Amino acid sequence: MALKVLALGGDGIGPEVVDAALQVLEVASKSIGLPLDISEDVLGWAAWERYGTVIRPTTLSKAHASDALLVGAVGDPKWDHIVIEGGPEDQDGLMKLRHELQVFACLRWARAHDALLKRTAFKPEVISNTDLIVMRELCGGAMFSPTRGIDESGESRRAYDLNEYTEAEIERFARIGFEVARRRRKRVLSVDKSNVFMTGKLWREVVNTIGQDEFPDIELTHLFTDNAAYQLGCRPADFDVILADNLFGDILSDQSGVIAGSLGMLPSACLSQLSEGRSHRPAIYEPVHGSAPDIAGQGIANPCGTILSVAMLLEYSAGEPDCARKIEGAVDSALNAGFATRDIGGHHTTQQITDEVIQQFNQM
Ligand code: IPM
Ligand code: MG
Repeated sequence: MALKVLALGGDGIGPEVVDAALQVLEVASKSIGLPLDISEDVLGWAAWERYGTVIRPTTLSKAHASDALLVGAVGDPKWDHIVIEGGPEDQDGLMKLRHELQVFACLRWARAHDALLKRTAFKPEVISNTDLIVMRELCGGAMFSPTRGIDESGESRRAYDLNEYTEAEIERFARIGFEVARRRRKRVLSVDKSNVFMTGKLWREVVNTIGQDEFPDIELTHLFTDNAAYQLGCRPADFDVILADNLFGDILSDQSGVIAGSLGMLPSACLSQLSEGRSHRPAIYEPVHGSAPDIAGQGIANPCGTILSVAMLLEYSAGEPDCARKIEGAVDSALNAGFATRDIGGHHTTQQITDEVIQQFNQM
């Protein structure tokens, strides 16, 4: 059966990087005889401009019927003044998709690429061999709180976004985090602010219980999030899997972009289920970077984060980890051959680096 992929370029550089990554997906899937059924649609402000909504109901139905979604980016400052009714999930098309598909487990993968070691803010010997996943809880916490608003009744306006997590939400997320660690170096670091927040106290307690009861083979440690951010700057190579709530994970995953030489290098997989390294429900794959409106339409965006997201797609939604490793190897080879977009110190275009990745893939 064909793998059903819904490609949603979105805003800014999103359509350019998705187009590049689809070229790689087609070559890669052909090489393993995997039939694809790809459909494309608009998302975010690109959808707003055409249809007056950030995501159409038909897009949502297509999402539910897909194996995997490949998303570019959403966000356009041109539309910042628009206020959309509803909850946080209604504010942009991507938040809506995350919420609808309940892809609560987001794997954001950062590794130090040899060719880019000297480009990072780290000393090469500190960063060398770093390979970590920031696991970000993606459907709860303050970022998805229905208890939000601006209260204008007092003397001073009061804004609030309640940060809350249920035990069940933490449990299901922690389980996937430990599963991911089991297939890697078997080390989990959970971050929280349990010194201050009640959500942090419950978070730590539940993660501990899941770890002890169900994953005794995984080494589990905890850090307060502020300290974790500091340690990530001091000794990035020591990290394996970091479990973080929605907000902390948003911050730490951008920070870990420094490790890779550019946020443009980071891929992600957003899952609602994982067993034996495979997800059988619709999953979202997207680069961690944003829509970068300043360079949109110029053909110079870094496609690597999205190409590496395609590798994650093949691993988790198609059960083809070997093919995923091949794509990752092809990206590294292209970087080693000196191919680089502007964000990683080069002058190559999106298409040039994509062509090189494809050529390297075909030679492997
Ligand atoms: C991300 C982005 C989004 C988020 C924004 C665009 C809502 O920063 O995917 O990290 O915070 O989730
Ligand atoms: Mg972010």
